Amino acid sequence: MLIAGNWKMYKGPDETREFCARLRARLHGLDGVDVIVCPPFPSLHDAVGMLATTELAVFAQNAHWAKEGPYTGEVSPWMLKEMGVGGALIAHSERRSLFGETDESAALRIEGALDAGLHVIACVGETEHERDAGETETVVHRQVEAISTVVEEENLERLAIAYEPVWAIGTGRTASPEQAEDVHELIKSRLRVPVLYGGSVKPENAEELLSQPNVDGALIGGASLDVESFAAICEAASRS
Ligand code: 13P
Repeated sequence: MLIAGNWKMYKGPDETREFCARLRARLHGLDGVDVIVCPPFPSLHDAVGMLATTELAVFAQNAHWAKEGPYTGEVSPWMLKEMGVGGALIAHSERRSLFGETDESAALRIEGALDAGLHVIACVGETEHERDAGETETVVHRQVEAISTVVEEENLERLAIAYEPVWAIGTGRTASPEQAEDVHELIKSRLRVPVLYGGSVKPENAEELLSQPNVDGALIGGASLDVESFAAICEAASRS
């Protein structure tokens, strides 16, 4: 099981150090689950330092595809690797809807991050409009195809997909375990990688979602900002 906390644009360096100290103590000795935190860029250095002697990993929330170059405001995956960051989320739906991320640019970023030696959690998922129009399978299939074209066999072990239905993100509306299971099965029929579910996962619903055969973990937003609720989800995962 894999549990990743996407902090989005929350927690600067001070708060990050305090959070990591508490999380480290809280999860000490927990087996059966790999835990990742994804702080904002300015907090990565502190998170890496605080969690260096633990099994907890630190991922960025985005990465550019190039090693270096004239890309003002972008962050090189090679530089992330150099500072001890283990991986990156790529193509979160907020990047797609608010910052112009496309299937094509997502594919470039995934390829660049894998080339740099990072792990990648690539995000896919349909909007409410697309689900209502019966297009969930088509949309997710298209997004997964774009990812699969750039991933070489030898890099597959460093890739995971997060299925995050856009209508379930930050809304308190979770996909039913059956809805998640159906889409996870579809993704796995194309790519043999772990598939995480994301969208309003909380301590109260984590166990049921994680008990589905094709749900290999979860990507948590809001509930990952609080040590107690994030730890409770990690504990539910370790029991699943
Ligand atoms: P919430 O858990 O707040 O719905 O966010 C999900 C998400 O976007 C994680 O990447």
